[in-house]
Amino acid sequence: MSTARSIQNLALIGFMGTGKTSIGRLVAEQLHYDFVDTDELIESSTGRTIPEIFAQQGEVAFRQLEARLVEELAARMRTVISTGGGLPVNPANLASLKTHALVVCLWASPEKIFERVRAQTHRPLLHDPDPMAKIRSLLAAREPAYRQADVLINTELRSAREVAQQVLHQFRSALPDQP
Ligand code: S3P
Repeated sequence: MSTARSIQNLALIGFMGTGKTSIGRLVAEQLHYDFVDTDELIESSTGRTIPEIFAQQGEVAFRQLEARLVEELAARMRTVISTGGGLPVNPANLASLKTHALVVCLWASPEKIFERVRAQTHRPLLHDPDPMAKIRSLLAAREPAYRQADVLINTELRSAREVAQQVLHQFRSALPDQP
């Protein structure tokens, strides 16, 4: 880790269905930090849901909204930031997050991800005739980006509370002073 970094925040990255939002909320509660979710911030600033943005403006426009939001997040302090699954694929987004946050990636296998997301309908990228194949190919394509995180945590065999404890431990170890 570069000494030029100043860790004020904790960012959670990872594929859809790895628990970034639920674990992020638990961690923020424990740290007494604010919690933000990039998808929720985009939805509230545009007044549209993520599926509406994809349908009406397309994925490229959504990625531009994400990139703009990432720049704004640099002003945050004491915040747990849960990110959309595709956000760190843009190297500039990841580089920006790393200037102010410890970046933790939550990981799960394609099978586990499918099990978690199969009953949900709010993710346009998984509206596919073969969602399992889509998960496999997207995850393989994104793996190099996810591996750029400071810390990688497998969520598969642990409860959300246990994963949250691991994230907290990693974050506290990375801070010069305990929060
Ligand atoms: C996306 C993940 C979603 C959301 C959008 C695109 C992706 O967020 O940003 O549907 O590209 O993986 P979650 O990871 O919170 O589901």
